[in-house]
Amino acid sequence: MLNALLSRAKAGEKIAMLTCYDATFAKLMHLAGVDMLLVGDSLGMVMQGAGNTLGVTMQDMLYHTRIVAEGAPQAVIMSDMPAGSYEGDQADALANAQALISAGAHMVKIEGGGHMVETARYLVEHGIPVCAHLGFTPQSVEKLGGYKIQGKTEEAARIIMQDAQAMAAAGASMVLFEMVPAALATHITQNIPVPTIGIGAGAGCSGQVLVLQDLLGIYTGPADKAPQDYKAPRFAQNFLVQSGSIQQAIVDYVQAVKRGQFPAAQHSY
Ligand code: KIV
Repeated sequence: MLNALLSRAKAGEKIAMLTCYDATFAKLMHLAGVDMLLVGDSLGMVMQGAGNTLGVTMQDMLYHTRIVAEGAPQAVIMSDMPAGSYEGDQADALANAQALISAGAHMVKIEGGGHMVETARYLVEHGIPVCAHLGFTPQSVEKLGGYKIQGKTEEAARIIMQDAQAMAAAGASMVLFEMVPAALATHITQNIPVPTIGIGAGAGCSGQVLVLQDLLGIYTGPADKAPQDYKAPRFAQNFLVQSGSIQQAIVDYVQAVKRGQFPAAQHSY
């Protein structure tokens, strides 16, 4: 299933990905044509009500991966490796990645380039398909000083390009860009041998991902914050408002991605 999807992406078909955290939505998304379900550690925010992803544990990821896989046994699933589960010892990273694969994931996602390239290589050499998450990396939100677009300067763009190339050379099957200029993500997509997925990275990527709650327009920020203090990110689009049903909103998202209609310029940087 995973190889067929990667081949379709390489042949030029746009890949529609959505975050998914439970069995009901997994089944619904699979039937709606979503190509890949991301069990994202964004579950810390949208399921648990926290302000960031840092408190998500391996137990959380295993639980959600398992129930997503049970809901849609035919779906291709990517699971996030949560903060603290892969940055240290490579053997620990491998054990955690293997646990996610045993729970039903087909690929794991790790954040960062640089020194994470060797971890990606180690995981791939041990049979784990890896996606590298570059640009804005939510697990480093404190270090990055908040939710800020990355790769704006020439030097920052060069580092992201270099990281993407290094990750592909290390065997990563996909590279995901979050909040980077559309021109940069497009340029990298055209110059690396693996598919790219964008979120706030423009329409030039090989595919797109959105957080389910953003697609439905129902996320209003952390549990302890007033909804009126929350502003949805520029890259989010509420598909439910036009479609009238959750199922149709997901179908509309898939079609908009496949036709290259989403994201539009107003969703990009
Ligand atoms: O956890 C998540 O939902 C993600 C997306 C923002 C890509 O990593």
